[in-house]
Amino acid sequence: MKAVTYTRYGGPDVLHLADVPTPAPGDREVLIRVRAAEVTKSDCEFRSFRYSVKWFWLPLRIAVGVIRPRRSILGMYFAGEVVSVGGRVTRFVPGDQVYGCTGLRLGAYGEYVVLPEGAAIGPKPRNMTFAEAAAVPLGGLNALHFMRRAGIEPGEQVLINGAGGSIGAHAVQIAHSMGAHVTAVDHRIKEDLVRRLGASDFVDYTTDDVTTMGRRFDVIFDMVAGSPYRRLIGKLQPGGRYLHGNPRLSVLLRSVLTTRFTDKTVTVAFASETGEDLAKLTEMIEAGEIQSIVDRVYPMAEAADAHRRVETEQRLGAVVITPDERDGPPADGFRNLE
Ligand SMILES: NC(=O)c1ccc[n+]([C@@H]2O[C@H](COP(=O)([O-])OP(=O)(O)OC[C@H]3O[C@@H](n4cnc5c(N)ncnc54)[C@H](OP(=O)(O)O)[C@@H]3O)[C@@H](O)[C@H]2O)c1
Repeated sequence: MKAVTYTRYGGPDVLHLADVPTPAPGDREVLIRVRAAEVTKSDCEFRSFRYSVKWFWLPLRIAVGVIRPRRSILGMYFAGEVVSVGGRVTRFVPGDQVYGCTGLRLGAYGEYVVLPEGAAIGPKPRNMTFAEAAAVPLGGLNALHFMRRAGIEPGEQVLINGAGGSIGAHAVQIAHSMGAHVTAVDHRIKEDLVRRLGASDFVDYTTDDVTTMGRRFDVIFDMVAGSPYRRLIGKLQPGGRYLHGNPRLSVLLRSVLTTRFTDKTVTVAFASETGEDLAKLTEMIEAGEIQSIVDRVYPMAEAADAHRRVETEQRLGAVVITPDERDGPPADGFRNLE
């Protein structure tokens, strides 16, 4: 099969299209034909091994490969079709259209991927193309996890920092669907996008500082490494909740003190990724509560350009690669925002 591979850490040009053996499913595994895979900030970080959050550099490097990457095919989020299943698989049959996460096994940048049937795999939303569906699991699962942990009540004021990113854009939609009044913070080029997703107010972080404004919030969800912790805690209402999805070590330590000694609660957590949550997202998507935002779809052979697009931060929504260009164009109109 064809796959985008890399054998050393570095810039986008370390990515190459190569012929590699097609994996075969074991007894309790499924073989999925990948129709589209999201190119994420995390993929770029795995490729370059440059992290804005430094504390997990060493454990991650040991897990991923000290000298060179242990797994040569990147890609954690995909949509595709089950082509064959192992003899003891009961959840899937060939022909099922699915989307999901490979986790640290990676491998979604190939034409085929093998996963255990218990991996985070869910039914692909019927009202989405493969490209649109591939853009959901990262942002959708993480946002669902944090918005649930926030325990949002209808009418609450929710601030989302990094609202135009993969996770933030899903958080805007989920918080909005929970009845919150959402204030989004991001670069001004994303204002139109996040307002269309449900944000009522917008703050451009390049010109304005939300921590000097007169507003207070019940919930702050922060995806930005290095944001001003003390000043953001100061923007919470009494009993407010601060959730950080991209915390530096200092935030991890301070979160314990804030939760223990003040009336505010700080949550720093990595989201779990499960098939059950993907099925929940499928329900929300088919009910029209969540849309997919695809910025551009690249053929797999142009994966390096797709990485450049993600790293230049000019994208509006998800960047997706596809082995089959016929799967490319998203059905919705979000690309017209460009
Ligand atoms: N906790 C978890 O479970 C978890 C899971 C997956 C990923 N992550 C990590 O979370 C991070 C974000 O993920 P993502 O995929 O959503 O990234 P993303 O798509 O790059 O989104 C980040 C957004 O934040 C914006 N931003 C940058 N600086 C800002 C600032 N000072 N104030 C407000 N907004 C700002 C960016 O805008 P610009 O375009 O202007 O830069 C971008 O729109 C990644 O580093 C990833 O590794 C955490």
